[in-house]
Amino acid sequence: MDDPDLPQDQHDHALRGLTTIHRFSGLVNRFWNALLPMLKQSQQAPSKRLKIADVGCGDGYLLRRLAAKATAAGFEVDWIGYDFSVTACKLAAQKADAAGVKIRFEQVDILAGEIPEKADVFLNSLFLHHFESADVETIFKKFRDATTQAFIVEDLRRTVLGYFLAWSCGRLLTRSPIVHYDGVVSVEGAFSIDEIQTLLASADIQNTNICKRWPQRFVLTYRH
Ligand SMILES: C[S@@+](CC[C@H](N)C(=O)[O-])C[C@H]1O[C@@H](n2cnc3c(N)ncnc32)[C@H](O)[C@@H]1O
Repeated sequence: MDDPDLPQDQHDHALRGLTTIHRFSGLVNRFWNALLPMLKQSQQAPSKRLKIADVGCGDGYLLRRLAAKATAAGFEVDWIGYDFSVTACKLAAQKADAAGVKIRFEQVDILAGEIPEKADVFLNSLFLHHFESADVETIFKKFRDATTQAFIVEDLRRTVLGYFLAWSCGRLLTRSPIVHYDGVVSVEGAFSIDEIQTLLASADIQNTNICKRWPQRFVLTYRH
């Protein structure tokens, strides 16, 4: 899915497949529950709107759902989506417009150069497994340095069960051949919790919490 030369129809199909997997995995509620205390706290200082950015946002599904939930609950938030794929950013902007939620999308390669602006919270889902350890360390440092409150990362764990679930559920939930291929390759490229902890330590990042989550994932939360 990260191939910039992927034809648009195949990219769209794969992103739709990924959305189905997100619904199945309960991704949105996990991010919502992690954000809720920060959203509530921000209401106590109404002059300051929380700024929340999703790095590697794909078609913006997570942001759209979170923005809709936040609006319904009366929270005012500036939402930003970063992705290095022009196709993903365009599609994400179209889908946000169609859903009537206000989200700004920007094409950014998170590894190349500076992150354009600081946010209070960075979100990041199903992203780290694309990278080598050294890059993940750099990404963690960038997330810490470009946020004022927290970053929340959810990703796959490299386990045998995870590999089996990626193979079987990928085929049950979507017909996208890209998702079928990416699913198992992603588990192969994923990290164990021990490896993530080692990378956080070498990036000198403390104040973290890592939990195992269904289906064979982890959620990492860093608080400033
Ligand atoms: C597997 S998709 C996950 C998309 C989304 N986070 C989700 O959970 O549906 C990974 C996304 O990261 C983006 N990406 C990969 N490398 C990137 C980079 N260096 N900078 C920004 N985005 C990147 C890809 O374009 C793709 O949209």
